[in-house]
Amino acid sequence: MNPFPKKVLVTGGVGFIGSHIVDTLLLRGCSVSIVDIGERTDTRNEKASYYHVDISDRASLEGVFKKEKPEAIIHAGALARIQPSFKDPERYFMVNALGTANILSLSKKYSVKRVIYSASSSAYGDQEMPLQEHMAVATQAYHPYGSTKRMGEMLMRDMGIATGGPETVCLRYFNVYGPRQTTEADGPYATVIGIFFEQSSRNAPLTVVPDGHQRRDFTYVSDVVEANLQALVSPHVGRGEIINVGFGNSNSIWDVVRFVYKLDGSIIPDEMIKKGYATYAPERRGEARETLAHTALAEKLLGWKPRVSFEEGIERTREFYRKQGWNV
Ligand SMILES: NC(=O)c1ccc[n+]([C@@H]2O[C@H](COP(=O)([O-])OP(=O)(O)OC[C@H]3O[C@@H](n4cnc5c(N)ncnc54)[C@H](O)[C@@H]3O)[C@@H](O)[C@H]2O)c1
Repeated sequence: MNPFPKKVLVTGGVGFIGSHIVDTLLLRGCSVSIVDIGERTDTRNEKASYYHVDISDRASLEGVFKKEKPEAIIHAGALARIQPSFKDPERYFMVNALGTANILSLSKKYSVKRVIYSASSSAYGDQEMPLQEHMAVATQAYHPYGSTKRMGEMLMRDMGIATGGPETVCLRYFNVYGPRQTTEADGPYATVIGIFFEQSSRNAPLTVVPDGHQRRDFTYVSDVVEANLQALVSPHVGRGEIINVGFGNSNSIWDVVRFVYKLDGSIIPDEMIKKGYATYAPERRGEARETLAHTALAEKLLGWKPRVSFEEGIERTREFYRKQGWNV
């Protein structure tokens, strides 16, 4: 193992995943700085230094590098949702691609040792399951979110080691969920488990898009944090490797409805609709029918295995919302 870095910069460190990474790094004794332009205050750890800086603004970002001199970067900052990317693809390019290039060129200039990139399973598109890293990326048109995140992966490979820059590694996350994920109360582009808990807190029917039979490899956020920490120290990565970070099991959206409302596993979709637990909502563009990660590479290169089952993760998430006073 390489020594654990003492100074880590986390981009997107007040976001859902980034804030959990920040908390864990601080618990492990790191000095942590955050670059983020988000407005959330509930997720910001006051023990980290905070810079309200846009990663697409190279000059301002350089000020942070100069001051903080991080040894490693966890680059989780991004425009992270699919649907709004159809409306403003240029902005997605500026943040997810150009912003990532800025991180890499400044990392080279300020001798950052390693950059860990939050990549996305959306790179695969629809193909045979399980999804393995050697598979070709999606050739069909999907969404600007997916292509700009994919550009980030390519930059990690070619602007990292190839230019004498930092070591890099790309972790392709699969549907991350858990405490602090956005809910419907945060806007129309929240992720499904957050939306469902918010709806269930109001005893409202859960909005199933479009037929509920699509499947997702839901991955609990603490497992994703652990993969990032392993990627900081593993001696087996650093050359732009792409590694799946998923649970290795998939659940349908109907399964999520059953878990959130604690329904019997045998209840069929028609009955859930009839009894008012769920209702159909219109299809959304660009979303894959299924995701399921093959996770052997993460075990081999990072010594990482997911630990939190879907059942346990859902209950931990429920507990989080309960503590916030929600009736879930
Ligand atoms: N949540 C998932 O299921 C999932 C799956 C695959 C990949 N990812 C990737 O993981 C990372 C974190 O995602 P998340 O779910 O925590 O999303 P999030 O939106 O909660 O976090 C992203 C953070 O980046 C910040 N940000 C956006 N634009 C910025 C800019 N120009 N400069 C600085 N900061 C900026 C946002 O303010 C936000 O706090 C993203 O890179 C995302 O693409 C997430």
